[in-house]
Amino acid sequence: MPGEFLSIIQPSDSKEPKRAAGESPARRTLPVLPVRDTVLFPHAVLPLTVGRESSVQLIQSLGEEKQILVVAQRDARQDSPGPTDLHTVGTVATVHKVVKMPNQSLFVFTEGTERARLCEYTQTTPFHCAECDILTESEPELTPEVEALQRNLVAQFQQIVGASPTLSDDLQAIALNIDEPGRLTDFVASSLPFLSTMEKQELLETPDVAARMDRVHKLLAKELEVQQLRNKIQSEVQDSVQQSQRDFYLREQLKAIQKELGDLDDSQKDSEDLKEKIDAADMPEDVKKEALKELGRLGRMSPMAADYSLTRNYIEWLAVLPWSKSSGGEVDIAKAKACLDEDHYGLKKVKERILDYLSVRRLKPDMKGPILCFVGPPGVGKTSLGRSIARALGRKFSRISLGGMHDEAELRGHRRTYIGALPGQIIQNLKRVETNDPVFMLDEVDKLGSDFRGDPASALLEVLDPEQNNTFRDNYLDQPFDLSHVLFICTANQLDTVPAPLLDRMEIIDLTGYTEEEKVSIAEQYLVPRQIKENGITAEQIEIPAASLGFIARHYTREAGVRKLEQLIGTVCRKQARRMAEGSTDKLAVTEAVVREFLGGIKVRVDTEIDERTRRAGVAVGLAWTPAGGDVLFIEASRMQGKGGLTITGQIGDVMKESMQAALTWVRSNAAKLGLNGDITRDSDLHIHVPAGAIPKDGPSAGVTMVTALVSLLTDTPVRPLTAMTGEITLSGNVLPVGGIKEKFLAAKRAGVRDVILPIDVKTNVEEDLTKEQMEGVIIHYVSTIESVLAVVLPHTFKEADDDRAVRETILSATL
Ligand SMILES: Nc1ncnc2c1ncn2[C@@H]1O[C@H](COP(=O)(O)OP(=O)(O)OP(=O)(O)O)[C@@H](O)[C@H]1O
Ligand SMILES: [Mg+2]
Repeated sequence: MPGEFLSIIQPSDSKEPKRAAGESPARRTLPVLPVRDTVLFPHAVLPLTVGRESSVQLIQSLGEEKQILVVAQRDARQDSPGPTDLHTVGTVATVHKVVKMPNQSLFVFTEGTERARLCEYTQTTPFHCAECDILTESEPELTPEVEALQRNLVAQFQQIVGASPTLSDDLQAIALNIDEPGRLTDFVASSLPFLSTMEKQELLETPDVAARMDRVHKLLAKELEVQQLRNKIQSEVQDSVQQSQRDFYLREQLKAIQKELGDLDDSQKDSEDLKEKIDAADMPEDVKKEALKELGRLGRMSPMAADYSLTRNYIEWLAVLPWSKSSGGEVDIAKAKACLDEDHYGLKKVKERILDYLSVRRLKPDMKGPILCFVGPPGVGKTSLGRSIARALGRKFSRISLGGMHDEAELRGHRRTYIGALPGQIIQNLKRVETNDPVFMLDEVDKLGSDFRGDPASALLEVLDPEQNNTFRDNYLDQPFDLSHVLFICTANQLDTVPAPLLDRMEIIDLTGYTEEEKVSIAEQYLVPRQIKENGITAEQIEIPAASLGFIARHYTREAGVRKLEQLIGTVCRKQARRMAEGSTDKLAVTEAVVREFLGGIKVRVDTEIDERTRRAGVAVGLAWTPAGGDVLFIEASRMQGKGGLTITGQIGDVMKESMQAALTWVRSNAAKLGLNGDITRDSDLHIHVPAGAIPKDGPSAGVTMVTALVSLLTDTPVRPLTAMTGEITLSGNVLPVGGIKEKFLAAKRAGVRDVILPIDVKTNVEEDLTKEQMEGVIIHYVSTIESVLAVVLPHTFKEADDDRAVRETILSATL
């Protein structure tokens, strides 16, 4: 760059005599050398390469004079510029040295001396010659302003040179040594590479020194600003580069330190392990993508970071879930049947329905079928049936107790943003069983709660709905999991409290209680062997005959199921275990006497209770359905002096109250037929009470019992012994069917009832639901009117009444 080259050469002092201001300039004729892209200033040295034919001739024609006029071209691209293509102000220059170059061009050192304005061209070939007027410079007076401007110029120049990596620092010293303001501006202008040719030419064309200083000052100020801006941008870029470099460096150091401590290997190995697990889990594409994304995030985290273990846990959860691992092959119906029979006695209808259901699943494995729901009193084998189904299918078994569950999150998990968040029970259980097709028991759906923490029932809806559960979304996982292979089975003691939409999705299978005979069989085949084993004795050491089992079931338990019975058998076994531990070796035959000894005196005697209570006129025995199976229910009526009021007590619901009113109305309107005199309520108050008074009761099914109690009271005739009944009544005396017949019947039988009165309309139900063995020993009377009820339940002759009394006595006196 010519400017730069020239700047490091100290400009020689001009030997030209200084002209005083105002003196008329001399006009001279000089050869004109056009130059491209550069401007020669007075006092500056410019090395020029001269290649143009005309210019070479110009240089060669120079004699002693050695004076030329250097003028910049207006357009650098012009090869043979005419007079109009050149600026009108140039610089008179002395040619100091000419060097011939190998390629015919010349290398010429010129030194500028004065500004000159071109006037007339005197020659254009072979090169231009022109007349020119020397421009005199008007040196300003050295006012403080000029001095300040000059110092500023120097300072700015020094600053620019100091900051520039390309400009030599010598320039700063030279600038300091120049006193004349005009020369200083020319020096500065010729030294700075960033000034354009046009800007330089303008400065050349400004002979007024003050104006020139001002102009240069502005150019420098602008340049300084540009420079500062550049520095700022540069340092910003550098800062950000440095920051990331610093982070990188620190992280590398940290890794090195961890490696020294033996930590890094662990975390690296850990993430490799996770990667392997993810690959092995065979997840759906989207889930895998998410898992790998999280794994990538984990890799960039420090193991010390708070998020690290959270992210790691999450990945671990994704990786260990059985996305596509299933255990079940085909359903083998014969094997399933054998399994169910092996584990459970009886329950024929229930097993049939389970097998039907499984058969459909076998034929249509992707079936979107209803969910099974076992309903029945406690201890009848609902939970254990579920377990048995799992065994029959060769699937894993998993169970959640919904009893008292209030929080939706328990089922569906918490979002990951919560501290200590975990997946819900559904996902946790799937992880535990490690397969995606277990038998999943949702125990006690009827005891599901709901409050401000959300409604678990609605979460269950999603789980149980075959249309939705293939994309079950746990809050923690936040990825859809396919639950459609899971076999869900719900259990409940009653259906009243199960939310209707849930009920809608379930196939209800009723399990009723067992009769004494069934309990004995279950005990013989299942409970006794299990308890013997569990208590560490053998079948050779104890024998519990059927009669004793029946005795225990009848007199020590009062339940529809067999749970208590099993506990008592356990107690008996433990007594024998103790005897053996104390040294006895003989086999124990558990007779009734032994039972009394081990379990204490008889706890339950329903038959004597019934007898005892019905000794008095005004008491009748009804049958009730309860979530725990069925039970017998006493209705007592009493009459006292009064004004025809009716009092009803015993925690009775509205429907039952109304049915009492109806009973009374029927009795009053049929008083004559019943052999009662006049208005039975004229001088008396009636009171009907249903013990046990603390348990709430409702429903219309005690209608017949109430009529019976009233008629028995008013006719002063005790009802026949061991007779129980159920049925709704109408005012015209018809008996209507009621529900829960099977449970009620079994409860009656358990209580030792011998005659049961039922509405005629339930006859088909009874014949379908109850087996012959179950009905054995009980006489069923089907009735359609109250008259027929009374015909069965009240004695009609003195002889019958006498007989009844005798029967009662024998029952009550039978000591056990
Ligand atoms: N028919 C049966 N054959 C063999 N064992 C039975 C039968 N019914 C019940 N059991 C046994 O009775 C016990 C209690 O049954 P289980 O726990 O399944 O009752 P549950 O119906 O689930 O009661 P809950 O409603 O209280 O949960 C179990 O040990 C079970 O094996
Ligand atoms: Mg259960």
